Amino acid sequence: MFPSTLTCLLLAILLLVSVAHPITLDDTIVDVADDDKVFAEVSRSKRRVPSVLSEIMGPLSRSKRQVQSEIVRSDLVYSRMRVLHLMLKYLIGPNGPEVEIRHFVNWDKTILIDNLFYVRPTTIQQVQRIIRVADMMQMRVRATGEGHSRSPMYPDEGNIMMDVRDLTRFDGPRMELMRPSSERPFYTVKVMTGVYLYDLNEFMVKNGVTLIAEALNNNETIGGMVSVSTHGSTWNGTGFGDFMVEVRIIDSMGRLRRFVREKHPELFKSLICGLGMFGIMYDVTLKMHTSKVVKVENRIVSLESVLYNATKFGEIVTSNLATEISWYPFNSLTNTEAEEYTKTGTIPSNWSAGKDFVWLRTTNEVDGVNPSLIQGPNFLPTGGSLSGSNVTGLLRGKSALDLVRSLAPVTYHYLPHAFPILKMPRFGTETSTALFVTIDTEYKRPLDALKFLIEYTENQIRTNGTTPINALLPRLLMNSECHICPANSNIQPVNSTGRSMVIDFLAPPLQQGYYDISREFVYKFRGDLVRPHWAKRFDNMPGIMDIIRNVYGDGIQKFLKSREDYQLDPCDLFMNKYLLQLFGQSKICLQA
Ligand SMILES: Cc1cc2nc3c(=O)[nH]c(=O)nc-3n(C[C@H](O)[C@H](O)[C@H](O)COP(=O)(O)OP(=O)(O)OC[C@H]3O[C@@H](n4cnc5c(N)ncnc54)[C@H](O)[C@@H]3O)c2cc1C
Ligand SMILES: *[C@@H]1O[C@H](CO)[C@@H](O)[C@H](O)[C@H]1NC(C)=O
Ligand SMILES: *[C@@H]1O[C@H](CO)[C@@H](O)[C@H](O)[C@H]1NC(C)=O
Ligand SMILES: *[C@@H]1O[C@H](CO)[C@@H](O)[C@H](O)[C@H]1NC(C)=O
Ligand SMILES: *[C@@H]1O[C@H](CO)[C@@H](O)[C@H](O)[C@H]1NC(C)=O
Ligand SMILES: *[C@@H]1O[C@H](CO)[C@@H](O)[C@H](O)[C@H]1NC(C)=O
Ligand SMILES: *[C@@H]1O[C@H](CO)[C@@H](O)[C@H](O)[C@H]1NC(C)=O
Ligand SMILES: *[C@@H]1O[C@H](CO)[C@@H](O)[C@H](O)[C@H]1NC(C)=O
Repeated sequence: MFPSTLTCLLLAILLLVSVAHPITLDDTIVDVADDDKVFAEVSRSKRRVPSVLSEIMGPLSRSKRQVQSEIVRSDLVYSRMRVLHLMLKYLIGPNGPEVEIRHFVNWDKTILIDNLFYVRPTTIQQVQRIIRVADMMQMRVRATGEGHSRSPMYPDEGNIMMDVRDLTRFDGPRMELMRPSSERPFYTVKVMTGVYLYDLNEFMVKNGVTLIAEALNNNETIGGMVSVSTHGSTWNGTGFGDFMVEVRIIDSMGRLRRFVREKHPELFKSLICGLGMFGIMYDVTLKMHTSKVVKVENRIVSLESVLYNATKFGEIVTSNLATEISWYPFNSLTNTEAEEYTKTGTIPSNWSAGKDFVWLRTTNEVDGVNPSLIQGPNFLPTGGSLSGSNVTGLLRGKSALDLVRSLAPVTYHYLPHAFPILKMPRFGTETSTALFVTIDTEYKRPLDALKFLIEYTENQIRTNGTTPINALLPRLLMNSECHICPANSNIQPVNSTGRSMVIDFLAPPLQQGYYDISREFVYKFRGDLVRPHWAKRFDNMPGIMDIIRNVYGDGIQKFLKSREDYQLDPCDLFMNKYLLQLFGQSKICLQA
């Protein structure tokens, strides 16, 4: 199994003479008690050669299926993985974590991986060992948190999924508050990437600090949110990745590397939306604001008054700290009309999308609130589903709005607790597509984009009695200096406000017209440089890779260059098939 000492020496010499690069990397390497150094030398990356794994990923892969049925195919893969499993277990050794063969299904059940190797390391040494063994066996590794992403961000079949949620820190606690210093005149929190947002929120409230924008869900990991630059809906708040000022990463050689934003600004433009391609992030240090007491207000207003009036829309989004706008289609029927609709299935002739209601939820800082009025986390009462409790069919929009009507019009919270949290659907599954456009000072582009979706939905309801989407959630965020963030300051059309709108829409994956509306929307607005959220549903749209490459332009080259310059993953150990297809192979992998 192990290459001989001679091979090992040769390899080491080869590396010593050939790795010459302009950037000083040594000062990024953190010393860790590493009982694995010899092993590390042996496993240094080389070009991939054919193996059992290539068979699993090649002729036996789902896309190339040449056997009769998925069950047969999956069994053939499984039998080959049993062999790899024994080797993995042997090489990882008794101090490593358990290795399991698992079937993986992501949160909304749109990503199914029949067989993968699942590991859940608890120490950095275990992470290092897994990476080195994977490299030796020419396998690939990808980190996961909660598995909420709806795109192919996961490892390929037959490869290794490294769940980072149990990872402990060797030199401190899982969450640590750092005081302002001369280099950083603000509070920061150093947090392990496997920590959940709900735990970080409690920690922040206890310590009087806060983030300025958060997702609609707190059951996600910090690493997952930094990797795809998860966003909230705060006019002056960026995506999650941009809160990061420091990070420690285990690279493809198993070395722990430390990067500081002030010192490595170019690399950070990549890391703040790194898609798991830069290694296993160990911990991140996030910039904090001082905690604020805020007032949350819920209003129900007509869709046309907010989304068909640019002046009004502009006033709302620029005057509130955070703004959430939600439309659940076909919600304006009276009870009598709803009963009539149930009986006849006929859409009332005077119904229109413009007359429907939107839920407008705003958050703003306030002073002098009686502490007894301050409430905890803000769960949305949507019966476990954003788009309409347990009612199915067209009337679910109305039932979702009824749930909103039951909300208190005003509540008070500490800021991280004011961000709205979705409960998981109790009924069925729901997916989401989220597409970004840059907001111009006239608000024309975002409102045209919304109008297209609204009218498409209205038309399908009228002509077909079905809706392509159950919820439309336009959200807002500030653009970042970032190579491939969808909210991106390099994508600056005329009259940019420096903000992007995320047009997020939800439905069960197989709902009538859902994929059609997403596809048509992207084609219609490609000239406006519309771009997808990396973690949402987009890979099923034909031609999307070209659209992505066109939008980011040389941002992609810069993204890949920093990965090469800092030698984080010279031989694509942290990639998967989809990402390789999109970004291409690393050009600096050494010949074996
Ligand atoms: C109900 C729901 C609500 C959502 N709301 C929002 C929202 O409001 N705004 C928004 O922007 N998004 C939202 N999302 C998307 C979500 O924020 C992202 O999918 C996020 O990545 C989820 O975190 P996770 O822990 O599940 O990550 P995973 O899906 O497990 O991982 C995501 C990516 O991060 C990488 N990764 C994870 N940990 C590490 C690590 N330690 N080192 C290196 N790479 C790592 C993985 O390789 C993968 O590529 C929502 C998703 C759901 C299901
Ligand atoms: C987080 O989601 C998982 C399922 O994905 C669920 O089992 C768990 O209870 C949730 N935790 C919280 C605190 O919501
Ligand atoms: C649009 O909004 C502005 C600002 O609130 C308001 O003055 C104007 O009357 C609105 N226009 C229409 C047509 O309602
Ligand atoms: C955004 O920040 C600017 C500059 O600090 C401030 O003037 C403005 O009021 C803020 N807007 C919102 C909506 O918070
Ligand atoms: C449609 O007309 C009915 C009466 O026929 C009325 O009750 C209802 O309010 C109208 N709906 C809208 C949205 O105008
Ligand atoms: C839907 O839920 C409500 C309360 O949550 C319940 O009263 C009702 O019976 C449910 N309906 C169905 C069809 O399950
Ligand atoms: C209309 O709805 C039916 C099912 O009710 C479906 O089979 C058909 O394809 C739909 N057509 C369009 C254009 O959405
Ligand atoms: C830019 O803004 C100016 C003034 O607000 C406006 O006249 C012009 O049409 C805008 N240009 C574009 C392309 O939106």
